Amino acid sequence: MSSSPDTVAREVARRRTFAIISHPDAGKSTMTEALALHARMISEAGAIHGKAGRKSTVSDWMEMEKARGISVSSTALQFNYEGNVINLVDTPGHADFSEDTYRVLTAVDAAVMLIDAAKGLEPQTLKLFQVCRHRGVPVITVINKWDRPGRSPLELIDEISERIGLTPTPLFFPVGIAGDFRGVLDRRTGEYVRFTRTAGGATIAPEEFLDAEHAAQREGSDWEAAVEESDLLSEMGQDHDEELFLAGETSPMIFASAALNFGVRQLLEALVELAPPPTGREGIDHHEREVTDPFSAVVFKVQAGMDSSHRDRLAYMRIVSGEFERGMVVTHAQTGKPFTTKYAQAVFGRDRSTVDTAYPGDVVGLVNAMALAPGDTLYTDELVQYPPIPSFAPEHFAVLRAESAGKYKQFRKAMDQLDSEGVVQVLRNEVRGDASPVLAAVGPMQFEVVTARMKTEFGVETSVQNLPYGLARRTDAESADELGRQRGVEVFTRTDGAILALVSDKWRLQYIEKEHPKLTLEPLVAAAD
Ligand code: G4P
Repeated sequence: MSSSPDTVAREVARRRTFAIISHPDAGKSTMTEALALHARMISEAGAIHGKAGRKSTVSDWMEMEKARGISVSSTALQFNYEGNVINLVDTPGHADFSEDTYRVLTAVDAAVMLIDAAKGLEPQTLKLFQVCRHRGVPVITVINKWDRPGRSPLELIDEISERIGLTPTPLFFPVGIAGDFRGVLDRRTGEYVRFTRTAGGATIAPEEFLDAEHAAQREGSDWEAAVEESDLLSEMGQDHDEELFLAGETSPMIFASAALNFGVRQLLEALVELAPPPTGREGIDHHEREVTDPFSAVVFKVQAGMDSSHRDRLAYMRIVSGEFERGMVVTHAQTGKPFTTKYAQAVFGRDRSTVDTAYPGDVVGLVNAMALAPGDTLYTDELVQYPPIPSFAPEHFAVLRAESAGKYKQFRKAMDQLDSEGVVQVLRNEVRGDASPVLAAVGPMQFEVVTARMKTEFGVETSVQNLPYGLARRTDAESADELGRQRGVEVFTRTDGAILALVSDKWRLQYIEKEHPKLTLEPLVAAAD
C-alpha cells in the first residue's frame, strides 16, 4: 500500500539532497566523514576511510583508482540529522570526469563548495561552480582547513565575489586567524561559539556558547576584530538573504576545519535551515510533476563493476515524486517497457543495503538495470518524461581496437555497455567500420577507464590511438558530404543519432566556416558554458 500524499509531503519537507564540489585535496572525504560523525552514523572519525589507505577503502573497484588515489565511482550517503534526512551524493574528484559530476549535479538540490583556506578558488572548484550556476543549484560555501595558516577571511570573500560573481554572506565569522581557530561569531545572534579540540579530531568537538561581553573578555582583540569585520560585511549588505541565496546570487559561508570537526554542526544546520527541500520537475511536455504526485524518478548515473565481489551494473535514480517501494513495477519512459524494482539498494563505498521505501530527494541504486541510461525516466501512473541530461562537448578523440580479432563479439558487447553507461561517447562512420569505433571524451582519463574495464570485466585487451582532432561540431546530413571532403575534418554519427564533425583545431574550423558559410557547424552545448 502506498502512503498518502500527506506522508510524502512530510517526508519531502525533512529531506535535503546535496553534493560537495571541491578541488582534489580540499577535504571532501574528511568533511564527508565529519558529517557522518555528527549524524552519529559512526562513533569515531576514521571509520569510513581509515587512516591507512583511506581512499582505497571507500571505492577500490578499479586498480586505476587505487593507483591514482581518485574516486571514479559515484555513491550516495544517507543520514539522519535531528529528524531530517540528509542525502549526500558523492562526485568524482577528477576534472576528467566532469561530465559525471555534471550528471550528479542534476540530481541534487544544493551544493556545498568546499575551499581550502590557503588556496582559495582552484580550477576544479571554478568549473564545478559554473555547472551549479548553469543549473540554478544554490551553493553554500565552506572555507575548510581554518586550523592551518591561510588567507584572511575578507580576502577569500573578495576573491569569490570578484572571480565568480557570487556574493558570500558568512553565517559565522571566524575568531582567530587561519591557523589559530578558536571559534566563530554567530552573525545572526551575535553569540560566540567556542570550539574545543578533541584528541586527533576523532570525536565531535564540544562547543561553548558565550555572549558578546564574555567573548570579549575571553578572546580580547581577536573577538573585537571578528566583530568589526562582520559589521563591515553587514554595511556592505553581506548578510544572509534566503531569496538571494535560492536565486544563486549569494552564498551563505561557513569557516570550518573538517579535520578537527569545527564548523561541521554549523554546516548541517545551514543545510537543514537554508537549503531547499526537493521540488517537483517539469517534463518535456512542460507539465510539472509535483513531489506528491505518483512515483517518478530520473536515472543520473549508471555504473558497473564497482568492486570485484559485485560484478554487476547499478543504475542510480533520484526520486522526483511519490513514494518508492521496492518491488513496485514502474515504466521506463524511453522504451515504454515495465521494469520491476526488486533489487533496490543504497550504496556507499563498499556498503550496500536494501532499500524498501524511499521518497523524493533520495537516491536508489537499481541492480542489473541493463536498459537504463543516464537521463532516463521511470514512472508509475500517468506518463512523464524528464528532459535528457545534455552531454558535454568532447575535446579528446581516439580509436579503440581489440588486440585480438577473436574477441570481437566480446568487444562489441563491452562497447555497447560502456556507451550506454555514458562512460565515453561512441562515434562511428562507414570508412572506419564497427571494429574500430572512435571514442570521444571530455578528459583523457575516460579512455583509461574504458581500456581498464574492457580488460577486467570483459577480458578484452584493447589499445587506444589518439586522433588529431581537438573539437567537435554538430552538423547535419546535408552538410556531411562537403565537410567530409575538407582537410582536417572527419564526420561521424554518435550513438544517439547526432551527426558530428571532428575538426583538427579552431583555426581550421574558422577557415571552413569562412569558405563554406552555408555548412551547418553548431557548437555542442558544453554544460559549463
Ligand atoms: P579530498 O577528498 O578533497 O581529496 O581531500 P581529503 O579529505 O582526502 O583531504 C586532503 C588532505 O587534507 C588530507 O591530508 C586531510 O587530512 C587534510 N585535511 C582535510 N581537512 C582538513 C582540515 O580541516 N584541516 C587540516 N589541517 N587538514 C585537513 P593527507 O595528508 O593527504 O592525509 P592524512 O594523512 O591526513 O590522512
